[in-house]
Amino acid sequence: MTYDVKDLALAPQGKLRIEWAGRFMPVLDLITARFKKEKPLKGKRIAACLHVTTETANLMLTLKAGGAKIRLCASNPLSTQDDVAASLVRDHGIEVFAIRGVNNKDYYKHVNAALDIKPHITMDDGADLVSTLHSKRRKLLSNIVGGTEETTTGVIRLRAMANDGALEYPVISVNDSQTKYLFDNRYGTGQSTLDGVIRATNFLIAGSTVVVAGYGWCGKGVAMRAKGMGAKVIVTEIDPIKALEAEMDGFSVMPMFKAAPLGDLFVTLTGDIDVIWGKIFENMKDGAIFCNSGHFDVEINKDELAKLTIKKREVRTEVVEHTLKNGRKVFFLAEGRLINLSAAEGHPAVVMDMSFANQSLGAEYIFANASKMERKVYNLPEKLDRQIAAIKLKSMGVKIDKLTPRQKEYLASWQEGT
Ligand code: ADE
Repeated sequence: MTYDVKDLALAPQGKLRIEWAGRFMPVLDLITARFKKEKPLKGKRIAACLHVTTETANLMLTLKAGGAKIRLCASNPLSTQDDVAASLVRDHGIEVFAIRGVNNKDYYKHVNAALDIKPHITMDDGADLVSTLHSKRRKLLSNIVGGTEETTTGVIRLRAMANDGALEYPVISVNDSQTKYLFDNRYGTGQSTLDGVIRATNFLIAGSTVVVAGYGWCGKGVAMRAKGMGAKVIVTEIDPIKALEAEMDGFSVMPMFKAAPLGDLFVTLTGDIDVIWGKIFENMKDGAIFCNSGHFDVEINKDELAKLTIKKREVRTEVVEHTLKNGRKVFFLAEGRLINLSAAEGHPAVVMDMSFANQSLGAEYIFANASKMERKVYNLPEKLDRQIAAIKLKSMGVKIDKLTPRQKEYLASWQEGT
């Protein structure tokens, strides 16, 4: 077995935490039980590049139960839970290449180590496996059957590749399943982002002004939860439809430049670069806190912040105080990496249950259907998406109505009017 983790002695704590998360993942549990019997992934090699968390560990166990051989690397240098990585290796025999806090060179060393398994499937969160394969490891492309992608940012990268004719194999966008984005992106990000801010700073949300940049599903979640905790919430957007939605949801919508002097806390979740830049830092009030919860650390312009900074020091874990040329002190969290995974534990297992049910069914679907698929980005079939929702509801003890035959007939007819 080969691996690179921080310390195998951390495994006992990781083992308990993996077990705890598993208690909240009943959909994945059912899939694991079926995979154990049917072995749909038998003999297949999967390279996975995901945040190494307790929830991801449970997904690895599902894939292993399905017969796959897996190598896991981290999808972000700051999101790895070292105790989980240790337990996956020591207790579960999974080859993990992930250490929290690695530099860029070691991050890609781990990505390449995962690819050394010569995968049939890539399972990505942010498309780092896909892009490394297509740029630096092209010889491995011939083994690949297909891939899955977890997140909005990764799907944007993949669609750009497919549009350019550069994508060499089919990929399932897990992110586009309704049981993923409506829950993970909204409720998961909504809660875990504020959790990260609070763990890092002990900041009181009530009575503060929170500026949320981006009103996609993740931004909607953060805005909703910040409002629920008593904040005055400002939303910044570039899309007129989303901006209108935010305004009608009761938020103040304005350009970032106008929001700059008003915010106590800024959170970026746009998927794009330079959302907070030089002039914005200069116009922030003394004591303003800012962080990112989008996939890459590009949303807050670190170079421009550095240029404006005359002094900086770490004042708490994940909190760096910047004294700006104008004399104000502002606070930058987690180096602009995903705050929810850097300073907290990521989304709770209850939502990751559905995301990772999509991942495991996605892997199964790709193996069964790859020969019929083109080099494109696909959604998981709606039937599977609905199945995941139905199982989740059942696990929550929630019953719903069924269409009567007459109602079905009505929906299928176009002749019936008033
Ligand atoms: N992305 C966001 N939260 C996560 C979690 N808990 N595990 C894996 N990936 C995540």
